[in-house]
Amino acid sequence: MAEIAVSVLDVEEENAVDYFYNIETAKIDFFHMDVMDGKFVERNNVELMKDYTLKIHNICMTPIDVHLMVENPRDYFDDFIDQGADRISFHIEACKDKEEVMSNIKYLVSNGVKASIAISPDTSIEMLYDFLPYIHMVLIMSVVPGKGGQKFIPGTDKKICELRKYCEDNDIDIDIEVDGGINNVTCRDAVSSGATILVAGNYILSSDNYSKAVSDLKEEYIEREGE
Ligand code: DX5
Ligand code: ZN
Repeated sequence: MAEIAVSVLDVEEENAVDYFYNIETAKIDFFHMDVMDGKFVERNNVELMKDYTLKIHNICMTPIDVHLMVENPRDYFDDFIDQGADRISFHIEACKDKEEVMSNIKYLVSNGVKASIAISPDTSIEMLYDFLPYIHMVLIMSVVPGKGGQKFIPGTDKKICELRKYCEDNDIDIDIEVDGGINNVTCRDAVSSGATILVAGNYILSSDNYSKAVSDLKEEYIEREGE
């Protein structure tokens, strides 16, 4: 059964705290903070996501999973490390070379945070191979980074399978987080392909029963596993 990370990207500011309380009781596994700098992606919500992270860190117990859609990711690490982030994903496309990727990984790990590399839909899995032994998770984008409510890109499950197979063949045990367009249909392919964490924003935020929406995603696996 996969773990569920709820994206807070589209949570309205005026009732954010109520939402965080309510969603936490829905037995989620992570809050997923989508940090955007207005350069790597169009939107800029850095200050809002820092505020949300502070609030969640102060009032909730659920681990925080930070997704940096920013240029120069290193410039953002300390803000989220200080707010108790459990794991931080930075985009490989935002790094100029392998040295920068490795230095980012080392910095996160040396600060007690699980290091994760995010890849956009057009980036191939091979780009990750050199780094897999040093990271805790790979975040595979199943939508183009930048906004919630998009459709799961067909064929992403093949990419998940390819990564999972490479990890198994090379005895590498990492989380594979799939992010974007996850609902009670797309969750099946993602999990059967090897995903261990699913990020869901719209599917949960738009539901009138958060617990049911979260267990819908989880129960798909119980059904499937029991098939
Ligand atoms: C997109 C973000 C995703 C997105 C998920 O750039 O990284 O986390 O907000 O939202 P849904 O589940 O609505 O696609
Ligand atoms: Zn995300």
